[in-house]
Amino acid sequence: MTQSANAKSRASFSGTLGYVLATAGSAVGLGNIWRFPYLAAKYGGGIFLLIYLVFVLTFGYALLMSETSLGRMTRKSPVGAFKHFGKSRAGQFGGWINAIVPMIIVPYYCVIGGWVLRYLAAYFQGAVHSLAGDDAFTTFISNGASVELFFIIFALCTIIVILLGVQSGVERASKIMMPILVVLAFVVAIYSVTRPGAMEGVKYFLIPNLKHFSWMTIVSALGQMFYSLSCAMGILYTYGSYMKKDVSIEASNSQVEFFDTLIAVLAGLMIIPAVFAFSGSNAAENLQAGPSLMFITMPKVFDSMGFGTVIGITFFLLVFFAALTSSISLAESCVSTFEDELHMSRLGSSVLVGVIILGLGTLSSLGFNALSNITILGMDFLDFFDFLSNSVMMPIAAIATCVLILKKVTLDGLAAEVTACGKPFKRRKVYNFIMKYLAIAFIAVILVSSVLNAFGVIHI
Ligand code: PFF
Repeated sequence: MTQSANAKSRASFSGTLGYVLATAGSAVGLGNIWRFPYLAAKYGGGIFLLIYLVFVLTFGYALLMSETSLGRMTRKSPVGAFKHFGKSRAGQFGGWINAIVPMIIVPYYCVIGGWVLRYLAAYFQGAVHSLAGDDAFTTFISNGASVELFFIIFALCTIIVILLGVQSGVERASKIMMPILVVLAFVVAIYSVTRPGAMEGVKYFLIPNLKHFSWMTIVSALGQMFYSLSCAMGILYTYGSYMKKDVSIEASNSQVEFFDTLIAVLAGLMIIPAVFAFSGSNAAENLQAGPSLMFITMPKVFDSMGFGTVIGITFFLLVFFAALTSSISLAESCVSTFEDELHMSRLGSSVLVGVIILGLGTLSSLGFNALSNITILGMDFLDFFDFLSNSVMMPIAAIATCVLILKKVTLDGLAAEVTACGKPFKRRKVYNFIMKYLAIAFIAVILVSSVLNAFGVIHI
């Protein structure tokens, strides 16, 4: 198919709002509500937040701009976008690594989405007290049939939206869920910060204190920035390829950054002050809870507060919406690669993605029960897929994008795409500086640190 024919027949978002809400829907996910608060709690509160903000406005911004511009320029998902600039082996590798990342992430993301759905269902049944039990979470994930069932329901929700198409599925789902999510986030955050004793938590989270700074604050903030903005997983190429030429890439990406950071900060305000207010002298210990903060610590907080059931429902509903819009974007990125590269129909690609989700996701969901005796490099399946995608493949994928821009597209070529809408490229100098001198070195630092972390040499 010629490029112009492809451009004509390619699906698109209806306009700026469609792009912004779908991309914000992708960015705002479990990363914001589950991962960001536990990292902020663990790695220094205010100082973590400050460093995170600097990274979002510099590296995050540069990566968002790079990937969406490449997608819109070539009207292709990552493999085709790299091929557009030459068919070298390195280029093919760069394209495929960006394309494969979401195929590894979406199955286990649906498993965690299933856990969220199960908690939501339990709050609806009034189980606020039993969910707060010390081993409620472990008991739940050890029940293979139950986790598998909720995982399948969550995966089906994702695939159904994908089958409905780009505008009627992906865009419409985000337009409905994102505004509700913002309102729910404000409700829970306001409730949490107004509890007696919560102010200590607000101060810890918002006021930078150099005493809490460590090298890990930088490494974890940088890794979180990638995760949260949905960089290096093919999504932004794909969504960029659905963006119309008259939409301003720069203005809409600034809005996406704003949305994503707003929800991360609200999630911090929902969770950290609540931990201070409801866990009394155990606050410091609970802040270190890590990944279990959302599934173990928060239910205890809900149980000890007034309106626990209502707040529990509101909180998990918001997490459910956030997780669903993100898993839709991960699945859409995979579907688009199959459509472009294997020339499959949308229906065929969606079914194939559904099969991949069920296959790999089942390994992850059964990894805590029926398959718990199998480990890879000492990790259960879910942790292994998370490590492989986030710690190894995503940094390599991001480096490939930077190399493509510097070597083939050129910074001027990229600027031409950004200004194609007729508006100036305001942060061009910052963008060029980051791409030329900083991006590759910084990303390499994350790669090395996270691999060393996984092998226990350092602790992030
Ligand atoms: N950016 C989304 C989030 O913060 O949850 C989506 C996402 C990011 C999914 C990274 C998975 C992932 F590994």
